[in-house]
Amino acid sequence: MTSWTPTIATRRGPRYRAIADALADDIRGGRLREGARLPTHRDLAGVLRLTVGTISRAYAEAQRRGLISGEVGRGSFVRSGRPGGAFGLPELPPPSLIDLSLNFPMSETEDRAVARGLVALAKRRDLGRLLEYLAHGGTPRQRAAGAAWVSRAGLRVGPDQVIVCCGAQHALTMALMTLAAPGDVVLTEGLTYPVFKTLAALLHLKIQGLPIDADGLRPEAFEAACRAGTPRLLYCIPTLHNPTGSILSEARRRRIAAIAQAHNVMILEDDIYGLLPDERPPALARFAPDHTIYITSLSKTLSPGLRIGFVAASPTLAERMLPALGATTWMAPPLMAELATMLIEEGAADAVLKRKRRETEARQAMAERILRLPKSALHPGAYHVWLPLAEPWRGEDFAAAARRRGVAVNPGEVSRGGARLPGGRGQPGSAREGAVDPARHARPDRDRLAGHRLTAPLRERALHQV
Ligand SMILES: Cc1ncc(COP(=O)(O)O)c(C=O)c1O
Repeated sequence: MTSWTPTIATRRGPRYRAIADALADDIRGGRLREGARLPTHRDLAGVLRLTVGTISRAYAEAQRRGLISGEVGRGSFVRSGRPGGAFGLPELPPPSLIDLSLNFPMSETEDRAVARGLVALAKRRDLGRLLEYLAHGGTPRQRAAGAAWVSRAGLRVGPDQVIVCCGAQHALTMALMTLAAPGDVVLTEGLTYPVFKTLAALLHLKIQGLPIDADGLRPEAFEAACRAGTPRLLYCIPTLHNPTGSILSEARRRRIAAIAQAHNVMILEDDIYGLLPDERPPALARFAPDHTIYITSLSKTLSPGLRIGFVAASPTLAERMLPALGATTWMAPPLMAELATMLIEEGAADAVLKRKRRETEARQAMAERILRLPKSALHPGAYHVWLPLAEPWRGEDFAAAARRRGVAVNPGEVSRGGARLPGGRGQPGSAREGAVDPARHARPDRDRLAGHRLTAPLRERALHQV
C-alpha cells in the first residue's frame, strides 16, 4: 500500500473535494503512480483527523472523476493521470505498440465502399440540402434505412420508431438523459463496457453491477435487484457481450424481458455487436417492445469514423428522446447519415459486414490456437476474446505487464476477472500469429507471480465486478 497523505490544509471548500483535488494534483505531478494502492478509508481518516464517511465521499468523488478504481475487498487504486485516462476513456496507443486496446473492425473492405459512396454523394443534386439544419432524428429516408438495418437483427420497426444519431455512445447518452435523473440506480452486467460507467458517473447515476456467468446476465439476479430496490433501468449487452463475449440465450432474454415488464424497469439494449454472429437469438426488444430502447451503430459493422448509430423504440419513447438529441448535437451529421443510408440501401454495408465476419472467424481461430482457450470461451463473430486472469493478477498490473512487452491492452477492459483482447486492427488477412500473441507477451512476472496460472476456465465461477 502507498503511504499517501494529501495536502489539504490550504485548499478551500468541502474536505472531501479537497482530498479528491489533491489526489488529482498528485497523480498529475507524478507523486502517485498508476496502479498505486491508496490508504484505506480508516487509515486516511486517522491521519487527516476526519471521519471515515468524509474519506469514503472523497474516494467516491475521485472514482466519479475516473482517477481511481475501487475493487470490493481489495481497496482503491490509482487509475491514470493522462488526460484520456482520467474519466476512464481509452487512449490510442503509440504506433510502436501492438494495438489490442480497442475493438476495431478490420479496415480496407469499407474504404472502397465509402469512396464509391462519397463520389455518388458529391454528384447528388440535393447536396446543398444536406448542408443545412435538418430534422433532429434524421430525414424520413435516413430513418427508413435505419429501420432496414435494425431489421437485420430481426427487429421489425417503422421509420417513426428510429432515430439516427452519432453512434452507440451518443445513443446511450440520449437514453440516460431521457430516462434517468441524478442519483438514480442503473443496473448493469457485473462486467460491462467501461465507457458506459464513465457516462453514468458524469450524469451522477449510481451503477449496480449484477452477477453474470459464462452465459451472460443471470435473470434471477435482475429480479432480486428489482425486488430489493427501485432501479431506473437495466443496461445490457446481450449479444457478444463486452468484455466477456457471451451471448444471452433466448430463454434468458424472455425471462429478463418479462421481469422488466413486471417491475416496470426500462432496458437499454446495446446491440452494437449484434450483427457479427451469423446466427443469434432475437433482440430483447422483441420480447419487451415497450420497455426496451434498442441501440445499434455502424461502428463495428462498417466504420467507427462515420459516427452513425440508430436507436429503435416505441414511437412515444423515440419522440421523448428527441430533445436529448437536439440538445447534444442538434442532429447526426446529415452528410454522414446520407452516406450510411446509401451504403445500406445499395447493399454495400451488407457486403462489408460479410467480409468482416469471415475475417473475424479467421482471427478467432488464431486466438484459439495461441491462447489455448476452451471452445466455450470463443465466439465466432466476436472481435475479442475474454482471457480470464487468475489471482493475484489485477487489471492494472496486467495492462502494465503487457505494455512492457509491447502490447497495448485497454486497462479499462481489464479487471480482476480477466482481460478483453480484441483481434487487432489491420486489413483482412494481415493478422500474424507471431504479432498477435498477448499470452506470450503478457506472461506474469515469474519471480513475483510464480505458481499462478494466467488463465482459468470462465465457467468455473460467476463474475461480479462493478
Ligand atoms: C458495448 C459498446 N457500446 C457502445 C460502444 C460505442 O460505440 P460507437 O462507436 O457506436 O459510439 C462500444 C465501442 O466499443 C461498445 O463496445
